[in-house]
Amino acid sequence: MSSFRLRCCECDREYSENPALLVCEACATLQTPGGPTRGVLEVRLDELPAEWPKARPSDTDFLEAFLPFSDPSAVAPLDVGGTPLLPAPRLREALDLPRLWIKDDTRNPSGSTKDRASLLVVAKAKEYGFDTVATASTGNAAAALAAVGAASGVRAVVFVPASAPEAKLVQLLCYGADVVRVQGSYDDAFDLCLAACDAFGWYNRNTALNPFTIEGKKTAALEVAFAMSSEPPDVVFVPTGDGAILAGAAKGFEDLVRGGLLARMPRLVAVQPEGSAGIVTAYRDGAESVTPVPDAASVADSLTVATPRNAILCLKRIRESEGGAVAVSDDEILEAIPFLARHTGVFAEPAGAAALAGLHRALEDGLVGRDERIVLLITGTGLKDVPAASRTVERPEPVPPDLEAVAKRFGL
Ligand SMILES: Cc1ncc(COP(=O)(O)O)c(C=O)c1O
Ligand SMILES: [Zn+2]
Repeated sequence: MSSFRLRCCECDREYSENPALLVCEACATLQTPGGPTRGVLEVRLDELPAEWPKARPSDTDFLEAFLPFSDPSAVAPLDVGGTPLLPAPRLREALDLPRLWIKDDTRNPSGSTKDRASLLVVAKAKEYGFDTVATASTGNAAAALAAVGAASGVRAVVFVPASAPEAKLVQLLCYGADVVRVQGSYDDAFDLCLAACDAFGWYNRNTALNPFTIEGKKTAALEVAFAMSSEPPDVVFVPTGDGAILAGAAKGFEDLVRGGLLARMPRLVAVQPEGSAGIVTAYRDGAESVTPVPDAASVADSLTVATPRNAILCLKRIRESEGGAVAVSDDEILEAIPFLARHTGVFAEPAGAAALAGLHRALEDGLVGRDERIVLLITGTGLKDVPAASRTVERPEPVPPDLEAVAKRFGL
């Protein structure tokens, strides 16, 4: 690993590595309760690889070249990342988009992109000597922390809204996490986790607060660029809630540009549900930060946040990349679930399928050209939220176990 500093995304102040430091001390004074995180810190590696490592992207050797951990034995033995970039020929044909790829992050161990962040955060927690890591989550970040914690022997304490989908809750409990079900929203869980970490000395993995979450999430972008190295994507669609996955993707592409492995940044397009579209609204208004949406609601529970905590950095990265931000309806998100599954074999939860809904919208709005090289980041598996997916299909009537009934069923 090369050494690194932590740089504030708002004032550019730099700090040396410090386990107790989560956000920029100067910008933190501007923090308003429940507002987007002020002074989010990004890792700034002193040296970046000028050549692709020989290892596979999920191998520790590959990660070591790009990520700021110093003890490879602290990295959980869980095979996080290294997910496929699928050319999706049937989806290309159906949409008349000959250069479309699916980054299938449903294949991470706990079923979502969030494993990438947890892998690095838990490795750093071990390096720093913490035995407990806590996070607030709509469900997936918690599952990711619980899975990585289980593989590593680090205790995970997770704060989730009491309304989190059943599968996500059960998954957490099976991984053995200490689950705190908060009677309130994700935003309430976020603030409670923050207070608990302060009070009890736990390491805080909250997104947009712990600098290693964005850094860990950058590996999705590294892998996309690695797989497409001869010609990188023009545009990447990123399902967005707090805005950390998008910031992570930006960080990955930016590191590659800085190190000389990538010629230019792709445009990054944030996709949010209409009912939870703080970042999209701020982007359209030309604002640098968000106005909270107190009654945020969407079928895409993972994208439902009143205050996108990483909004300031996310908006900055969207604009720097000359990307965009689109809002999609819950119906569009739901329709995208079977459409994606039927044309690619990839079954996504509503948040993951939102990337495809966003592509439809961006095509209508003329944000993306038909000949462009497009990547959809599919961030979470459909098995996480079967009740949502079940709204999009009709159950066939049961048939008696005889051939005649089957013939009748098919009109044969
Ligand atoms: C499956 C999935 N997709 C997308 C997101 C949005 O990520 P972010 O909140 O970093 O924007 C989440 C966040 O929970 C998620 O779980
Ligand atoms: Zn600052």
